Parts: sequence; structure tokens; C-alpha cells
Amino acid sequence: MMAAIFIKLEAPPGMSAVPVSPASPPTMSGPRPDAALIAALEAARYHPLWDRYQRITPMAPRAKDAPHQWRWRDFEPFVARAASEVPIEDVERRAIIMAHPAFDGATVTTANLIGAFTILNPGDRAVPHRHTASAIRFATHAEGAFTIVNGRRCAMAPGDLVLTPPMCWHGHINASDARTVWFDAANMPLVCGLDASFFEPGHRGDADFWKVDEGDERIWAAAGMAVAASAGTSAAAALQSPKYHYPGVLTRALLDAAPRAADGARLLRYTNPATGGAVMPSLDCYAMRLAAGAATRARRSTWNTICLVVNGSGRTTVGDRTFEWECDDVFTIPHWNWASHTALSADADLFLVTDRSLFEQLDLVREELQ
Ligand SMILES: [Fe+2]
Repeated sequence: MMAAIFIKLEAPPGMSAVPVSPASPPTMSGPRPDAALIAALEAARYHPLWDRYQRITPMAPRAKDAPHQWRWRDFEPFVARAASEVPIEDVERRAIIMAHPAFDGATVTTANLIGAFTILNPGDRAVPHRHTASAIRFATHAEGAFTIVNGRRCAMAPGDLVLTPPMCWHGHINASDARTVWFDAANMPLVCGLDASFFEPGHRGDADFWKVDEGDERIWAAAGMAVAASAGTSAAAALQSPKYHYPGVLTRALLDAAPRAADGARLLRYTNPATGGAVMPSLDCYAMRLAAGAATRARRSTWNTICLVVNGSGRTTVGDRTFEWECDDVFTIPHWNWASHTALSADADLFLVTDRSLFEQLDLVREELQ
């Protein structure tokens, strides 16, 4: 026999709380007794809680998208085609975004996030613009390209991470004599879901935009030191990192020195030097090194992750999917899926871009380790 359940609704001041009884479920003999009431409520633009509370308050997260892998070897033919068929003068960016079919045709890689590759021919300039979405670039084959962020010229040597935080002006140039490709990630799905996207185009003919050097990026070159009373201590710097460029050579040296975490991997977080926290309020980046042959302990978390293979080869099991991966492959760990990684080469490095900092601010971080 089903026990009666009463849900106490909090009443506004001055009103008494009204206990609401869940309706009886449909019986074998006919429709539920409150069917007419529910129909009348719905017609009047009300929803009863009692017949749908499990949908309104699910017991646990359930990602809309299955884990997915995009292989570099499948993508690479599109690099040459995009480079030859799409004039950079005609487009804002020559980027190709990984799109998961679970999002009903929307341009989404996994919840809240997109991952992409941007292709520039020698001499190409991707015009300046800025927007409220947060983005990052991770240099894979981008030697000789530069990203200019708020008047600072950021190099794109192998493994370099460049931030383009919300409303920072940014443009890209390939100053080399070879085609460049890098990995991008951004949180357009989150920002558009909140309907908080603003976008400002720059001027294609603004020659001064490109005539800059490292500028204030030099202030943030050394870990553990900051200019006293600099802008880096401002409220703005607390929200987004005042450092935009994280050189890959330093990331690799730190991975060499880092101890293993509880799951067996070496894990670095890219941090805002003014706060020690995430680089941006809703993008949070990590570098992971895996040891050969040893699977990491499975972990699941409430946030979403896009993984880029930076070096080596390996295998990852996410939920009920297992991916064998190589350099420049991309795969997703949608939230609340168990994930375990193994390097099949001597070492393997992953770059992880996540929305963890968003969950941190909402007090929704949950993580479990098997
Ligand atoms: Fe952008």
C-alpha cells in the first residue's frame, strides 16, 4: 500500500502554507481521479507539482549527450578543404565546430561548451571582435601564429594556451609561411542558453590592432610574483585572469614535476594568478599527464569536459563508451559519467577544458572517485 506523501510548500509572509497531497496514480480501472483537475490547471497555465515532481527535481543528473570522440584523422581532410574553399576575408573565423547530434541540431559539443579547430593560411588575419562568451585557444599546429588579446601579442607555440576572456578584444594572425591549426573552446551554448550573448565586431581595416607586442603580458610571466598594487588586484581581475598566455613549455615542465593525484594522473589547473582560482568564471582548464599502462581510478563529476589529446596515445572509458585515441583527437566527458584513462604510449598528455568553475560558483560541484 502506498504511503501518503505530503509536500509542504513554503508560503510567502502573511499566507499560510498549504500541504499538497500527491494524487493517486492511475488505477487499472481508469484514469487518475485528478485528471480533469490537471487538464484544467494546464489550460489555465498552471502545472501541478504532484504528478511531475520527479521531472522537476530529478534524483541525479543525466546528460543529454552520450560521450563522443572526434578523430583527428577523420577531421584532417577538412583542414585543406576549408583552407582552400573559404576565403578568410569572407568570414569572421575559419573555425569548424564539433557538433553532437543530441542537441537537436544546435551547435554544441557537450553541455555548455563547444570545441573547434581554427585554420589559418599564411598571412591570414581573423578580424578583431569581442563578445560576452568566454573562449580559449590551445596551440596544436600553430607555430608562427599569434592571438592578440586586449593589445597583447600572445604567441602560439606548441601547447600554448591563450585565453580570450569575456569582452576582451581579440584577433588572430598567421605570420608564418605554413598553414596553422589550433584547438578552440568556448561557452557559447551556456551564454546563449542564458540569452546573454553580446557580440561586437571590430574593424577589418584597423592596422593598429596588429601593431602590438607582448605588452602587459610580461607582468604575469613569472609564477608566484605580481606587481604590487597592479591592476591584477582589481575586482575585474578576480573575475577573469589578467594573464592571457600560458606557455606550453612551462606546462610540460610542471607536469614533469607534479605528483600523482588520488586517481593516478598528474593534474594541473590553469589558474588566475590574482586569485589562485579558475581562469574564468565559467571556463576552467586543466592539463593531465597519464602514465603508461595504469588506468586512472574512475571519476565522475557534475561538470562537463572536452578532452584534447596533446601527446601520445591511450584509451578512455566514459560511461559505456571506450575510445582509443591519438594526438589531436577530441572526446567528451559529459557530466556525471564515470571516466577512466590509460596511456598506451610511454606517457600521454591531455588538455581538458571544462565548465567546472561555473558549478563552483553555483555550489554544485560534486565529484566521486571509484
Ligand atoms: Fe571570438
